Amino acid sequence: MKHILEQLAARRAAAIAGGGEQRTAAQHARGKLTARERMELLLDHGSFEEFDMFVQHRATDFGMDKHHAPGDGVVTGWGTVNGRTVFAFAKDFTVFGGSLSETHAQKINKVQDMALRNRAPIIGLFDSGGARIQEGVAALGGFAEVFQRNALASGVIPQISVIMGPCAGGDVYSPAMTDFIFMVQGTSYMFVTGPEVVKTVTNETVTAEELGGAPVHTTRSGVADGAYNNDVEALLQIRRLIDFLPSSNTAAIPEWPSFDDGGRCEPSLDTLVPENPSRPYDVKELIVKIVDEGDFFEIQDAFARNVVTGFGRIEGRTVGLVANQPLVLAGVLDSDASRKAARFVRFCDCFSIPIVTFVDVPGFLPGTAQESNGLIKHGAKLLFAYAETTAPKVTIITRKAYGGAYDVMASKHLRGDVNFAWPSAQIAVMGARGAVEIIFRQDMNDPAKIAARTREYEERFLSPFAAAERGYVDEIIMPRETRKRIASALAMLRNKDLQNPWRKHDNIPL
Ligand code: HXC
Repeated sequence: MKHILEQLAARRAAAIAGGGEQRTAAQHARGKLTARERMELLLDHGSFEEFDMFVQHRATDFGMDKHHAPGDGVVTGWGTVNGRTVFAFAKDFTVFGGSLSETHAQKINKVQDMALRNRAPIIGLFDSGGARIQEGVAALGGFAEVFQRNALASGVIPQISVIMGPCAGGDVYSPAMTDFIFMVQGTSYMFVTGPEVVKTVTNETVTAEELGGAPVHTTRSGVADGAYNNDVEALLQIRRLIDFLPSSNTAAIPEWPSFDDGGRCEPSLDTLVPENPSRPYDVKELIVKIVDEGDFFEIQDAFARNVVTGFGRIEGRTVGLVANQPLVLAGVLDSDASRKAARFVRFCDCFSIPIVTFVDVPGFLPGTAQESNGLIKHGAKLLFAYAETTAPKVTIITRKAYGGAYDVMASKHLRGDVNFAWPSAQIAVMGARGAVEIIFRQDMNDPAKIAARTREYEERFLSPFAAAERGYVDEIIMPRETRKRIASALAMLRNKDLQNPWRKHDNIPL
């Protein structure tokens, strides 16, 4: 027995040593933590239960029979985040560059299967060079087994990926199939093929940072949902995100104690919207004043900033917030903003998270650039996403709700459950000047007539009343009471029961 225990301790120590002291020191020198250090930070202290520490690869080609490392480049298992079960795996860059072999894939598959069977979120910490080159098709097959499970778990349990080192090939495609991707500034990269392959194929010289650093994916491609300054900050923020998310599509919305009164009034909101309709204001100020304790977890804060998406809580329960941002491009909907908001709305609906939408939108962005990059299809994604949603929807029109964008932004017609308007709301096909220039073209040479027609249009349509008279808004509310009204609407909607007709799955315009 003593001998076995000694052997166990020795084998454990060998596994925990990963790729050895030198590679661990190199990992630290780059400002990165090791796989197990990351697990310790992600999970509640002492809760990590590791699986498969002794698994070894079975490859023999290219001298691999002489290279073994217990654990095979990935640390897997489960633990808790603030007491709630999660499954996790962390690539160990010190072992074969964290690359994926057949057995490495089997370890990940095991926790993927357990997460799905036990209806708990799964978090992947990526730091890896993709398929293990020495294994060839066995590694490719392993990746496909991971991808297949990503697809089956989608919409059933939350799947979160954190990119914490250079990631290529399959190690970017698996994250891309999950719900959220976060990166670490300066130490993480994501690309399908690295700078050397790019040089060979396209003769383009590019650095890893330029090709796939956090700035590229958080601001331009929209592949990543956020980036943090270092490993510690990233992992602590993932813990914060997990607190917002239900464990599965059949689990209840998590409820945390809140010291913020649901009936709290916020008088400063009465003056948030400037009198001049073309002057902007920051919709995030509104969001922060509405949610419990001002706690807002923004998703894609640096991408398509003309729309704001993220999680907050009202009376301790999670809500998804979507808001046009008048500070950026006057809050117009363009292709990027539409796909950003659509994906967020669909995530919320998968997990029955109520959606609160703040509307101040002058319409869709006109122009050849937008049309040629598919604004029709991207705009339709958002329209489709809101239309198919069965989760509770509460909408507040704060100012402009013009044209098609009025319809799209969780309008009553798209089964909005409770639709409020502030007294400053303007619900119309377009702004008064544009409208008059089209319908009274014959009077264009008579400025007095045009001014009178413009006033007439403003009085008729640039108020919430035309919509309220038709029941398209349920109530015109004082801005100061917004939190209270949202809280009571959400409380009323707790038992909402709405089902879409049966189908295999929908065909959202991708
Ligand atoms: C085996 C690998 C590896 C891989 C890295 N290593 N990637 N071993 N298979 N894919 C090993 C290196 O040999 C090295 O071993 C150690 O990991 C560290 O790698 P370095 O290159 O020294 O580190 P660095 O300079 O930081 O560069 C990291 C890197 C680079 C950018 C990830 O290693 C790289 O470009 N790797 C190959 C990426 C790639 O093309 N992968 C295949 C993708 S195809 P030693 O012993 O020296 O420490 C794919 C198919 C999936 O994934 C299909 C998707 C649909």
